[in-house]
Amino acid sequence: MDVPALRRRLLAWYGRHRRALPWRDTRDPYRIWVSEVMLQQTQVVTVTPYYRAFVARFPTLAALARAPRADVLAAWAGLGYYRRARHLHAAARLVVREHGGRVPDRPGTFGRLPGVGRYTAGAVLSIAFDHPLPALDGNVARVLARLHALPLSLRDPRGARALRALAQALVPARRPGDWNQTLMELGATVCVPRAPRCPECPVRRWCRASALGRPEAFPPAVAHRAPVRVRRAVALIERRGRLLVVKRQGPLLAGLWEPPGVELEGGAPAGPALHGALAALGVRATLAPTGESVRHAITHRRIEVEVWRAAAAAVPRSARLRWVDPAKPAFALTALAKKVARPGVTVRR
Ligand code: ADE
Repeated sequence: MDVPALRRRLLAWYGRHRRALPWRDTRDPYRIWVSEVMLQQTQVVTVTPYYRAFVARFPTLAALARAPRADVLAAWAGLGYYRRARHLHAAARLVVREHGGRVPDRPGTFGRLPGVGRYTAGAVLSIAFDHPLPALDGNVARVLARLHALPLSLRDPRGARALRALAQALVPARRPGDWNQTLMELGATVCVPRAPRCPECPVRRWCRASALGRPEAFPPAVAHRAPVRVRRAVALIERRGRLLVVKRQGPLLAGLWEPPGVELEGGAPAGPALHGALAALGVRATLAPTGESVRHAITHRRIEVEVWRAAAAAVPRSARLRWVDPAKPAFALTALAKKVARPGVTVRR
């Protein structure tokens, strides 16, 4: 493969076709970092408005470090994978404390910050500081597997190692950040998982998978884990247009708020379980099913949520309970909370 020619063609293509994304007209390492963290598990169209709002609210790393965690989570609410926000916040505080507030530009230092893995380090350091490091995400891995027609997947350690070596071999010393974004862009817009647009591809002549006529065969399909089906019931308890929410604890979505609810084992009826869950919070309520249910999917769970409503309720003061205006929440609600609190599901008295 003529690597210099491949690079030239791809970078020229990027110059013509790159999307104007808000994190692409800055070299501010903090902003690039925020964008790369948001983009890890979330698509560009979803990220864009969150990114704009986030950097408007926390324009500098120092501003982020100063902010209370609840404000950071509120700005993240709806993006999912909240651990990313907690790590980013913790890392910002660490950078202020130990690095004078300047984002470290050495891979060994930056790469040890909370939440900064190989991908984030490569992306941020190449884009913001011109370090010739690869930024290997799913899109880039697919492009590389196809170019070489190799059955390599990021999901298995040997595949990941081989892909890293291929990615490293291609990174140029000049404009490594543009190069990494070029591969991401090609993967996101042309070399897409299904029905890739090979006729539009600037490097088709070098692509072995395309030559074999089987671009979709790379990377190899993974056996998907069947999603876990879960039943849940939630109670909508309202007072003067505000909805009662409880702070989540435990491993998933800890620290976010949502209406009190309960997971239902097997075919367990919702009413008694919901009353029990409310009693554990000190809440006494007369509940009735609305007949509505909401479907919600997170990671490997498919959740079917029965929505119940309280006609009357006695609610104690508690640090775990709050009343919230669902249209203007002052703290982070779960995506499920937003779904069940939609007008039409919530019937106001
Ligand atoms: N996905 C991850 N990083 C990206 C970037 N910088 N631009 C577009 N998509 C991305």
